[in-house]
Amino acid sequence: MADLTLSGKNPASLKADALVVGTCKTSDGLAVVADQLPGDLVRELETLAPQLGVTGARDEVRKLPAGPGLKASVLVLTGLGEREADGTFAAETLRRAAGAAVRELAGTSSVAVALPTATEDDLVAVTEGALLGAYSYTTYRTGDVPAKQAPVASLEVVTQFSRSARAKAALTRAQMVAAAVHGARDLINTPPNHLFPAAFAEAAKAAVKDLGAKGVKVTVLDEKQLAAGGYGGIVGVGQGSSRPPRLIKVAYAPSKPVTRVALVGKGITFDTGGISLKPPAGMASMTSDMSGAAAVLHTVVAAARLGLPVAVTGYLCVAENMPGGNAQRPGDVVTIRGGKTVEITNTDAEGRLVMADGLVSAVEDGHDVVLDIATLTGAQVVALGNRVSGVMGDDDVRDAVKAAADAAGESFWAMPMPEELKAGLKSNVADMVNSAADRAGGMLFAAVFLKQFVGDTPWGHLDIAGPAFNEKGAFGYTPVGGTGVGVRTMLAYLEGRGV
Ligand code: BES
Ligand code: MN
Ligand code: ZN
Repeated sequence: MADLTLSGKNPASLKADALVVGTCKTSDGLAVVADQLPGDLVRELETLAPQLGVTGARDEVRKLPAGPGLKASVLVLTGLGEREADGTFAAETLRRAAGAAVRELAGTSSVAVALPTATEDDLVAVTEGALLGAYSYTTYRTGDVPAKQAPVASLEVVTQFSRSARAKAALTRAQMVAAAVHGARDLINTPPNHLFPAAFAEAAKAAVKDLGAKGVKVTVLDEKQLAAGGYGGIVGVGQGSSRPPRLIKVAYAPSKPVTRVALVGKGITFDTGGISLKPPAGMASMTSDMSGAAAVLHTVVAAARLGLPVAVTGYLCVAENMPGGNAQRPGDVVTIRGGKTVEITNTDAEGRLVMADGLVSAVEDGHDVVLDIATLTGAQVVALGNRVSGVMGDDDVRDAVKAAADAAGESFWAMPMPEELKAGLKSNVADMVNSAADRAGGMLFAAVFLKQFVGDTPWGHLDIAGPAFNEKGAFGYTPVGGTGVGVRTMLAYLEGRGV
């Protein structure tokens, strides 16, 4: 991750390769907004920028030669759009503008970011955005990474709070959050021939290797232990692959926790659909079908690094959904841990099967609340698109997750679990089917299915099918590929429980 320092200096005097300042729209045109930048420079830029067609709109990033007034070589104008009614900028606006500029500056080694930081929270947002924008995935490129792909290596954030102790603590948090998001992105971007269930278990152990002293422990159930333990959902989904499934528990247990939270993540390392095979067009992106488990793993890691007073256990339900000779068939009946039976009507509705085992396991272990996160349904994408995730579950948990997402700057939207969809669970041979005959409300039906496995434990369900993997162009601090969505929301939720 990029090196990070704070500076209280006049940004004009900083010798970075590039200096980033903000632009915004005003009633009479454009304003340049930057911490500590002298007024004469601001006015000069405000005259120049409109002549270059700069508007100050969100997502507008413009690189210019810096000119004699600045020590940096390149000046970058990043758009903040319009101010809020009270004259400030929303945290997510700052995060996004900082991220877009730093992302566009890939290939530049040192960058000074001078965006307005009226409060310490603004500083955290700018820093987080800048760090999130400094990402690229290059593990499987041989030879030199082309210069224009290398993420920015060193960041200097200009702020009036450069000497505040609280600001420094907040920066440490921003670095841990960004590291967690990058960790999730790396796992998601790992090609599916390299990231199979046993490899995921090794990755989980590697991710927590220095956290033993902080109370983090990984336990892995292999295919034999899963069969012996009655985890029929994970076993059934995984049996079509030559690379057997795993249930990976990652537990962070601080001394004297104020509450205990379980996070259950869908970890399908590749989803072909199984015997109910997917069409080729939509299949390649199913390398990202383990995004929930990746987010869970790195949320637990971040919670431990931050020393939150909340016990958090991640349940990573990891399997590869392949149509091999031993694959489960439509018509099979499997028994989920705890004894409920499910008729498989569609082997492509595999996520809810592995999640059912994970939820039962979490409930057995006794937590105050269970959240689950999964790239669960194509219906989520139809309903909410590629940038907004769905959140369901018990009303209060759902609303708390939505509030945490808003605070963290991730887009989630509360969705209902209509009573009448329960009728779709009916099976002629088992307790329920995994896929309803009626496709209407597919995201909501999947939530209704999962609810059958949580009993009375307070529960929230996050469907991130669209937002987990960005197949279009990069935007703001979001790169192409794995986005790491969910990490910031779950972490904010945990922080909220810890006070
Ligand atoms: N992994 C998919 C859901 C998905 C779709 C994630 C698009 C990301 C982008 C899931 O396992 C799946 O295949 N769901 C089926 C369920 C259906 C068979 C009831 C779907 O949504 O089509
Ligand atoms: Mn599927
Ligand atoms: Zn899937």
